Amino acid sequence: MKKVVIITGASRGFGELIAKKFQKEKFQVIATMRNVDSSPNLMKLDNVDIKKLDVTNKSDIKNVVDFTIKKYSRIDILINNAGYGAFGLLEEASEQEIRNQFDVNYFGLIDCIRGVLPQMRKQKDGVIINISSIAGRFGLPFTSLYNSSKFAVEGLTECLHYELSLFGIDIKTVAPGSFRTGFHDSVNFTENEKKEELDDIRENLKKALEEGIKNEPPFPFGFGNSDDVANFVFKQSITKSKVSNFIGRDTKIINFFIKIFGRELLFKIIKKLWFSRILPNK
Ligand SMILES: NC(=O)c1ccc[n+]([C@@H]2O[C@H](COP(=O)([O-])OP(=O)(O)OC[C@H]3O[C@@H](n4cnc5c(N)ncnc54)[C@H](OP(=O)(O)O)[C@@H]3O)[C@@H](O)[C@H]2O)c1
Repeated sequence: MKKVVIITGASRGFGELIAKKFQKEKFQVIATMRNVDSSPNLMKLDNVDIKKLDVTNKSDIKNVVDFTIKKYSRIDILINNAGYGAFGLLEEASEQEIRNQFDVNYFGLIDCIRGVLPQMRKQKDGVIINISSIAGRFGLPFTSLYNSSKFAVEGLTECLHYELSLFGIDIKTVAPGSFRTGFHDSVNFTENEKKEELDDIRENLKKALEEGIKNEPPFPFGFGNSDDVANFVFKQSITKSKVSNFIGRDTKIINFFIKIFGRELLFKIIKKLWFSRILPNK
């Protein structure tokens, strides 16, 4: 019998590539997305069910879990991949913008985990992979909402791995560095509560983001190949590995740097790199 994997945010980017990888490896793939028409590529493939799932909608989650159990009687793997970045000055973000970031990246992920747990507990088997980020391991300027939502995912996973080991369920994070997906085009610049005195810094920041992040990653190590993330996620899902797993050349360099020189020096370098772009006079 084929193993069954549910993937969130499979319309594009990592999620779509992860779905293709599992399909190639002969899994039964439940590729979930907000708009079921958004991935014509996946639609054409055998052994792929495309189901509607907005991670902020609990009844979508229930429908997907019920469908999967009814049709395949099991859920082997959940890949919590859906997410986006809310960037900007914290003071200028509206409450809605703040909550939305956590509703998608954190509470949605919790609801998906809670959705599959009863079945995985029954099976005494299952793997959950939460796509976190290198941004969930150290802070960056002007991305406090995104980073903290990923810190929360890392923290949740670290705590849950104890609890879920009681039931034979393996949970871990995969934290990518910088990869050119739709992520950069989908950034929500949070400015619904503009403050006049922050006009200069906001406009410089916006310009730097628009010109910069689409073409070059925040660290000068280039973008990675997104297929490597899909292959890595697949590998983590079929092998016993660590609770936190990093992918990307930049993550290796940064983790090595932190180990040798510590976080404070990294913060100083980040300030220098970022502020020279955003505040040309600094
Ligand atoms: N790219 C990077 O450099 C990078 C680095 C580290 C971590 N990550 C993480 O990797 C994950 C995938 O991102 P990506 O790089 O592949 O970006 P992407 O191309 O923008 O894909 C994001 C996916 O998340 C989906 N999504 C957004 N809000 C959703 C919601 N409420 N419910 C369900 N799906 C939702 C999007 O669906 P729609 O098509 O409906 O918008 C899309 O399928 C995210 O968690 C991101 O934080 C990315």
